Amino acid sequence: MSSVLLLFAHPSQHKSEVCMPMYRVAQSVPGVTCVDLYADYPTFNIDIVTEQQRLAAHQGVIWLFPLYWYSTPAILKEWQDLVLEYGFAYGPGGTKLHGKSLLCALSAGGSEGSYCAEGYNHFGLRQLLSPIEQTASLIGMDYLPPFALFGARSAVEEGRLGPHLARWRQLLEALVAGEIPDTACGAGVPAKRETLS
Ligand SMILES: Cc1cc2nc3c(=O)[nH]c(=O)nc-3n(C[C@H](O)[C@H](O)[C@H](O)COP(=O)(O)O)c2cc1C
Repeated sequence: MSSVLLLFAHPSQHKSEVCMPMYRVAQSVPGVTCVDLYADYPTFNIDIVTEQQRLAAHQGVIWLFPLYWYSTPAILKEWQDLVLEYGFAYGPGGTKLHGKSLLCALSAGGSEGSYCAEGYNHFGLRQLLSPIEQTASLIGMDYLPPFALFGARSAVEEGRLGPHLARWRQLLEALVAGEIPDTACGAGVPAKRETLS
């Protein structure tokens, strides 16, 4: 068994059709500690000691967020800037996160086909998230391929949310069981041209 820390970052939860239901599922999975960053830190006054203690107490870390401008919502960047300190996450003695895993679980408005060289987003999702992947590498964490739901704004009406939530639950249970799952998507999307319309 492995403990999993899930950090949820969504600034407009009342409008969320994907991440919020994913957060609710995560709250029901034993072994997953769920933290709502915007609820805990409405003024971005992040408690560094608390966050570092949470990290130290868990083996796996998940960031759950809607993709905003090819990156995380602002509070997750603030969290990185403050919590991943010199002497804790890197530098002399900065080995506290070594061997832990990091997974980005996200929703994206764009279709899967748009996330490739020929699509209007021009890059694959994993490529776009490479600053996070490299951060994980620098601080000694095992970076897992992102778990993404594309075309998020039409997922409910197209009946894709239910199956996604089922895969999400399986993924969380596998992580808690200490398994390295092979369920992520976002890398290797088919080459297909799509334009904004
Ligand atoms: C400020 C902002 C920036 C966004 N940037 C992107 C983006 O870079 N790529 C993308 O595919 N979707 C983008 N979107 C769409 C969101 O990713 C999408 O609305 C969200 O994933 C839906 O999930 P939710 O229902 O849980 O909010 C953006 C939305 C907002 C509000």
